[in-house]
Amino acid sequence: MTRISDIISQIHAHVNATSLSKNALACKAGLAPNTLKKFWEDDWNPSLETLQKLEAALFSGRNDHSYPHGTPSSFTFPSLTGKRILLIITGGIAAYKSLDLIRRLQDCGADVTGVMTAGASEFITPLSVASLTGNQCYIDLFDLKEESEMGHIKLSRDNDLILIAPATADMMAKMVAGLANDLASTLLLATDKPVMLAPAMNSQMWAHPATQRNLRRLKEDGLHIIDPANGLLACGETGPGKLADVMDIVRAVGAFFHPKAQPLTGKTIILTAGPTHEIIDPVRYIANRSSGKQGFALASALTEAGAAVTLITGPVSLETPMGVHRINVESARDMHEAVHAQLPADFAIFVAAVADWRTEESSTQKMKKEKGGIPTLKMAENPDILASVAHLKENRPEVVIGFAAETENVIEHGKKKRLRKGCEWIIANNVSHTDQIQKGVVDKDVMDKGVMGGNQNQVHIISDKDVISLPEATKKETAQMIVHEIIRHYA
Ligand SMILES: Cc1cc2nc3c(=O)[nH]c(=O)nc-3n(C[C@H](O)[C@H](O)[C@H](O)COP(=O)(O)O)c2cc1C
Repeated sequence: MTRISDIISQIHAHVNATSLSKNALACKAGLAPNTLKKFWEDDWNPSLETLQKLEAALFSGRNDHSYPHGTPSSFTFPSLTGKRILLIITGGIAAYKSLDLIRRLQDCGADVTGVMTAGASEFITPLSVASLTGNQCYIDLFDLKEESEMGHIKLSRDNDLILIAPATADMMAKMVAGLANDLASTLLLATDKPVMLAPAMNSQMWAHPATQRNLRRLKEDGLHIIDPANGLLACGETGPGKLADVMDIVRAVGAFFHPKAQPLTGKTIILTAGPTHEIIDPVRYIANRSSGKQGFALASALTEAGAAVTLITGPVSLETPMGVHRINVESARDMHEAVHAQLPADFAIFVAAVADWRTEESSTQKMKKEKGGIPTLKMAENPDILASVAHLKENRPEVVIGFAAETENVIEHGKKKRLRKGCEWIIANNVSHTDQIQKGVVDKDVMDKGVMGGNQNQVHIISDKDVISLPEATKKETAQMIVHEIIRHYA
């Protein structure tokens, strides 16, 4: 789901949940009353500015403690004003997404010109690209009018960035080989401008040694790669190879033009994530619903901010974020040991949902039902990783942060936990939506909002001085806001 459609669904939810009329919401956002006239229609296509105003209106007054440093969109939409981007669209099924990409790049101020391969024209038309960009869409190397001025050389130089999205396996191979047998490959060879590519293909194609070899070569050649996402592919298979989310591509382009100062450069961070598994017997264990998504998102955001992150994770099925050093563990005791083995570090951030208890003894053989009777599991307490690090006399990280999953009185419980554990911050969140999942309500909305396993989160950063409540956002955005706060306080 793109950020834009995220905002649109939030507006829908808000209008549904309150008695506020569409016109009243528009007025609150400082927009003309009829702005939301086509609100329910599928082709409602508001400008980014309109959405940002609506989003600001939605966020205002939503929390008891409002977040003073911007809404998530301020972390989401880069300024590309004045930037000229040559978008090369190649012949993958994801070519249709390049139409949305054009709009989103323009929303950020970019001037986009399209180039399409013959393959791409099988999926979308040059007319659509030309209409959306407002510029001619180039497809033919031997277009006489253009070539009288050596059009391909001009095209390859007249832009600030060349972005290939989607980039096929074929185009990657051509670039590695230095082929120049169509307009796109020729101008890629002729350009002196930076090139970014967002590959998209079937996961077997992506995993193929040839593609992986080409990927390495392209990186060595200095190309900027926007990694594909993991997910359901158009061919029905699931795995890596899906075109990165359109807004992630826009963000990557933004980050290219505005390389962030990396304020956490030189900082080492130990971060835990995911659940722990406490063994009962070789086939059974005690676990919890943690998916690891928030911890992994935080590891990624901290790395982007320049930190060297060691991610110690319980069993999860998530890809390691780029640049992160990952250590896999299973039980709370493994995690405790791994954390202490990684010290010293500048920061320690404990996001993992660590089991409080384990069975005192685990059976080496599968426990048999036929033996009769219901087994009684005698429990033993697990080590308290957060407190053990926060109370260290030697090698204590400068900043120790713990997460608290609460189902009621979130802030009060979070404050008490912070004092008990002796850490700088507790980041508390309400995981009570999981109740609804337990009750068998498997509605997608609930799954999305359920904090454990879901994609949204709303957290409160509790320190000895104050409580900063962040707005509800995706886990990725929440991670970016937390990193923003870490930088504000400690970088
Ligand atoms: C329906 C269909 C979908 C395709 N999807 C992809 C894709 O997602 N990624 C890819 O690398 N190739 C895909 N291909 C194969 C490319 O279209 C093919 O390699 C073509 O030569 C690419 O040309 P180009 O790189 O010049 O655009 C697909 C082919 C078909 C028929």
